[in-house]
Amino acid sequence: MKNVLIIGSTGQIGSELTLKLRGLYPEGSIVAGYIPGFEPEGDLLESGPAAEVNVVDAKQIAEAVAKYDIDTIYNLAALLSATAEKYPLKAWDIQMNGLINILEVAREKGCAVFTPSSIGSFGPSTPHKDTPQDTIQRPTSMYGVTKVATELLSDYYFHKYGVDTRSVRFPGLISYKTLPGGGTTDYAVEIYYAAVKGEEFVCPIAEGTLMDMMYMPDALKAAVDIMEADASRLLHRNSFNIASMSFAPEDVFAAIRRQIPDARMRYEVDPVRQAIADSWPDNMDDSCARAEWGWKPSYDLDGMTADMIAHLREKLCTEAI
Ligand code: SER
Repeated sequence: MKNVLIIGSTGQIGSELTLKLRGLYPEGSIVAGYIPGFEPEGDLLESGPAAEVNVVDAKQIAEAVAKYDIDTIYNLAALLSATAEKYPLKAWDIQMNGLINILEVAREKGCAVFTPSSIGSFGPSTPHKDTPQDTIQRPTSMYGVTKVATELLSDYYFHKYGVDTRSVRFPGLISYKTLPGGGTTDYAVEIYYAAVKGEEFVCPIAEGTLMDMMYMPDALKAAVDIMEADASRLLHRNSFNIASMSFAPEDVFAAIRRQIPDARMRYEVDPVRQAIADSWPDNMDDSCARAEWGWKPSYDLDGMTADMIAHLREKLCTEAI
């Protein structure tokens, strides 16, 4: 990787991945792709080039790729699961028409492409415990439908045209920098904000609902390592299960309480999010990622909780001044 275009650079993953890539590849052009209304600001704006690139506009993608001699595209534009249930056609447009726009440019210009998949690519008929790498994928949400189609289309472009497509199935991602929006796993970020602000957290997911989760530094490492992996070792491409921790709301609440003893939570279950969560794995088996490209996470629930609370205290205190 040298010259990289990040589409969706101001979102939850993009805002951190863009800065990480600029640190790792200082000689290259790491281009922050954005859409109007979501322009880069601060560090993201000042530390490198930016370009207006709407994933549904094939011409804008092609122009940015040509201008910066892009060799790798991170396709991070997506509507998350709960929002995609509200706007299914928009989700299809962004996730599928956007992807094919990118893959076509990549085919012509020889770019590698990373498009994340998700725990959302699984459904009710998938084995929920230790979900295998290769298993039933019959999701019931629009988000899941687009993620399975993304995996298939990305593999298709690899087999048919030799486009270097690679991907991981992200768990719910937890970070203190940029909020996610409209996801089923967002509660696991919001619970930390509530605890640090001293507010009661109203949990939309029921007690006992296990889902895979991951701290952002591990997710960023995965996104870089998979694209840097030795291609000859990859038996899979789109997409690898990756895992680091699996928890239910009461588990993350207990971890927070070990550090903030007066943290409060009550349940008010959102039926849309709960139905999605119930259809997803309890925990994924990530042994193929470990064997094929050396995946290994660094954070567990307690390590992440300590780091989240420390950073949020700093952030929320600075914002209050
Ligand atoms: N975090 C996503 C969501 O909840 C899943 O990949 O929609």
